[in-house]
Amino acid sequence: MADLVTVSDDGPVRTVRMNRPEKKNALTVPMYEAMADAIEGAGADPALRCLVIAGVPGAFSAGNDLQEFRNAADHAEGLAPPLLRFLVALARAEMPLVAAVSGLAVGIGTTMLLHCDHVVASSDARFSTPFVHLGLVPEAASSLLGPRRMGHARAFALLAMGRPLDAAGAVAAGIVNTIAPPAEVDGQAMQAAREIAALPAEALAATRRLMRGSPDEAIERIEEEADLFGVRLASAEARAAFEAFLSRKR
Ligand code: COA
Repeated sequence: MADLVTVSDDGPVRTVRMNRPEKKNALTVPMYEAMADAIEGAGADPALRCLVIAGVPGAFSAGNDLQEFRNAADHAEGLAPPLLRFLVALARAEMPLVAAVSGLAVGIGTTMLLHCDHVVASSDARFSTPFVHLGLVPEAASSLLGPRRMGHARAFALLAMGRPLDAAGAVAAGIVNTIAPPAEVDGQAMQAAREIAALPAEALAATRRLMRGSPDEAIERIEEEADLFGVRLASAEARAAFEAFLSRKR
């Protein structure tokens, strides 16, 4: 199970890699658990100064595992506590967060980027949040951070209409800093992380706190979204969408 998320430290930089390539990095409860542990643990280690979130070639993440969503709906459960713990860990992280996005970034694969400080994406990256198409609502405080980051109209197209963004569109929307050839995404993200880690630590921490403000607002929104998400998971709209995906013939 540990292999579904790998954690490696290189000097002051921790890399947390989602590693479920056969399912395009669809995220499961144990994966959220491992990622939350890695983020919280990094914060407690004074030797670490920056954290990189990465995926596998061609798949940053296909979003939450839809089989797990269907199971949660069957058992009248809402968003799993480890998922919420992961989101709160992202919002509360004091360490700068860098993302290396190769290929697909669906659902939480896109919304988690709104908590990152620097994002490198592959030239073939594709960002999409089909929440409403799935009968769901946005999560990860994206309903707050999305409009703030890119303006209401663009956030509506992404988060409500489910229109995808390519790499250039994600730069224009303010989600991505740099576009790199697919083979260079991890290297460029690591380079940025090392650059960040080499900055004067106290000044950087103070600057980041000033820029991000208190995490409480985002955490409150994460919880508000989660309440609605739980209701939506059990809805007929969502159940039909999960069934359509899980029984599709290719
Ligand atoms: N949950 C569960 N399984 C998923 C998944 C997800 N979110 N995304 C991909 N997979 C699985 C597929 O079922 C397939 O499994 P299989 O080989 O056992 O049949 C495998 O991962 C590869 O996916 P595939 O669909 O063959 O790859 P693709 O490149 O053709 O398409 C996606 C990739 C991401 C566009 C497509 O899989 C998809 O739409 N997934 C659902 C995304 C989603 O809605 N996420 C939730 C957002 S809230």
